[in-house]
Amino acid sequence: MRIAICPGSFDPVTKGHLDIIRRATTLFDKVIIGVSVNPNKKGCFTLEERVNLIKKCTTDIPNIEIDIVDTLLAEYAKKVKACAIVKGLRAVTDFEYEFQMTALNYQLNKNIETFFVMSPPQYMYLSSSIVREIASLQGDIDQFV
Ligand code: PNS
Repeated sequence: MRIAICPGSFDPVTKGHLDIIRRATTLFDKVIIGVSVNPNKKGCFTLEERVNLIKKCTTDIPNIEIDIVDTLLAEYAKKVKACAIVKGLRAVTDFEYEFQMTALNYQLNKNIETFFVMSPPQYMYLSSSIVREIASLQGDIDQFV
């Protein structure tokens, strides 16, 4: 069985995340959505709240699991016998950070490959942090999450 992990902070999960998750589930037998704290980002929802939000909007996808990752992702991948990490790539601005993470994850676990899925144009601009900002200013976020 080929298992992939879609890791992220998902604070909160957006339609852009869901697009990447759905596409990953067509490529792998099982996709684990790994919800983690990103120490560089100020958290809004608890990890449990993030898991519940993802659960609510993925009930129609049979081959996924949702889990909290509170260790190194490379170690978690070993534990669950995942062969791949799947991440979305929106713009060139994402690249530097993802490039570093990919190199380090590979260094920590040579059995894991990282794959990038390009976000479709309608979600290229979307991020959890911008959704949080719009919500904090009472903007309508229905079309994004
Ligand atoms: O959605 P994000 O904030 O871009 O996701 C970042 C995340 C959660 C994937 C990253 O912070 C991560 O992998 N955290 C797990 C801990 C870890 O392995 N850190 C070192 C990576 S080299």
